[in-house]
Amino acid sequence: MQSTKLTSNENITIMITKEDIESRITQLASEIEKDFTGETLTIVCTLRGAVLFFSDLAKKLTMPLKMDFIEVASYGDSEVSNGIIKIHKDLTNSISGEDVLLVEDIIDTGTTIAQLQSHLNRQNPRSLKVCTLLDKPSRRIVKGIQPDYVGFEIEDYFVLGYGLDYKQHCRNLPFIGKMKL
Ligand code: IMP
Ligand code: MG
Repeated sequence: MQSTKLTSNENITIMITKEDIESRITQLASEIEKDFTGETLTIVCTLRGAVLFFSDLAKKLTMPLKMDFIEVASYGDSEVSNGIIKIHKDLTNSISGEDVLLVEDIIDTGTTIAQLQSHLNRQNPRSLKVCTLLDKPSRRIVKGIQPDYVGFEIEDYFVLGYGLDYKQHCRNLPFIGKMKL
């Protein structure tokens, strides 16, 4: 990728359609509801990548729900993780004693989720589970990271759309795409 600005979406191919995303989210929501019957759940959105997934998932969950947001950066403007996450915005409310579901866009090397889990576990939630829209297990560096709910397992492609960005572009695409080479 040469330019830092993406001026058109014409070299993006659709990998997962918006219809497939929607029906998978319906399935995930019913799995989550089964696991948390009768419980109040606090769902935590990792900004900014998970924002569309988080809001579509939340609309399908019918149990009592609280929402909070955390913003971390792991990549900066690079496509490669540098292994260190920075918390730009921490949770607003305490999650001590709560059942928490951390909602992620994608798990790649596992660095971000591992550090987020330790960060949240320090607040002593009653339980902490992870739901990610996308998982790239072949890229894992941190061992033992196994999300509780996965939308789609994908191969080692750089993907964008539906919240995921390429240098802050393309988050608004309603599908998940990849760059045509
Ligand atoms: P990890 O720490 O390597 O697991 O990377 C997780 C974060 O990197 C995700 O939350 C995304 O923000 C970003 N990321 C990883 N792979 C992709 C991709 O294919 N497209 C866009 N962002 C990605
Ligand atoms: Mg992310």
